[in-house]
Amino acid sequence: EQTRQLIDKLEAESRLAREEWIALLEGRSPDAAEYLFEKARKWQHKYYGNKVYTRGLIEFTNYCKNDCKYCGIRRSNRNAQRYRLTREEIMECCRTGYELGFRTFVLQGGEDGAFSQKELEELVGGIKKAYPDCAITLSVGERSHESYLGLFQAGADRYLLRHETADEEHYRKLHPPELSLEHRKKCLYDLKKIGYQTGTGFMVGSPGQTSAQLAEDMMFIRELEPHMAGIGPFVPHHDTPFAGESAGTLELTLFLIGLLRVMMPKLLLPATTALGTIDPKGREKGILAGANVVMPNLSPTSVRKKYELYDNKICTGDEAAECRACLNRRMEQIGYKLVVDRGDYKEES
Ligand code: 5AD
Ligand code: FES
Repeated sequence: EQTRQLIDKLEAESRLAREEWIALLEGRSPDAAEYLFEKARKWQHKYYGNKVYTRGLIEFTNYCKNDCKYCGIRRSNRNAQRYRLTREEIMECCRTGYELGFRTFVLQGGEDGAFSQKELEELVGGIKKAYPDCAITLSVGERSHESYLGLFQAGADRYLLRHETADEEHYRKLHPPELSLEHRKKCLYDLKKIGYQTGTGFMVGSPGQTSAQLAEDMMFIRELEPHMAGIGPFVPHHDTPFAGESAGTLELTLFLIGLLRVMMPKLLLPATTALGTIDPKGREKGILAGANVVMPNLSPTSVRKKYELYDNKICTGDEAAECRACLNRRMEQIGYKLVVDRGDYKEES
């Protein structure tokens, strides 16, 4: 059938035309998904074996100057309890994380002007100095080329900035007017050019999203050639304009993970927290669909619930050690293992 042929074509040629993407997404079925996931696992095994990389996520501020309609820490959410971690608290998260076997720290936060460029650079430099064998990933939104360069020179290795949707019209529907897809893309190209291992990604099932828009996402990822792509279902947050919308589905998210693995076999692909939120076995299913990374939380439990991008986020009551142990167990149950490794992108063939 046509869907399988399109999966074969994607695997052979690493790209599809817009109309083919749409046909593939709309023609998907449980059988086609199984066919896809087998191929995805074959590529996953070829490059990464049964290893799953971990990154320790440190959510260091939930202040944000932006007002994205989907996000629980948007600036106009007056109910969000705002916090910032101190440098000492962040270093403490790294220390705990290092002992637990994390060799990548992801510093994620809202776009918070209270951390100056200099402070961020010192933070990155301080972590790098204390843990020279670790990779530092930043996820602090849109910044200037100059700022990205300074942070890179201070020791940051990777940067996560999801494009959220590669369709202009949909981008405008999800974001306030001062944000643009064009600038988002510019940031991503700047990051790559500077030398960051760069991650992008998008939300699956955001309100009003169509197959044609998802086709744009896949084509944009093909064009950018990032090192990572984080995709997760949209999950509504009760204090946002999208409170009453429905969440993206497990089924579509898994299918897209499989397609990304087959399109770009070496891509670092997380089984995201949002995926674990909409289904109790979501992250395991993500790995079995082709993902190879998990990003448990290292933030102090005292602030976990406050970094609430969407409702019912998992792991908000669990200590870092519990999450590590929990994921160890979950990965072993499906025949994979968490490794103590920076988990860099495999450049060599
Ligand atoms: N549902 C799912 N993902 C969300 N994000 C933000 N808000 C939501 C939501 N309501 C994702 C965005 C962002 C990442 C840090 O979290 O894709 O890039
Ligand atoms: Fe956090 Fe399972 S990963 S409790």
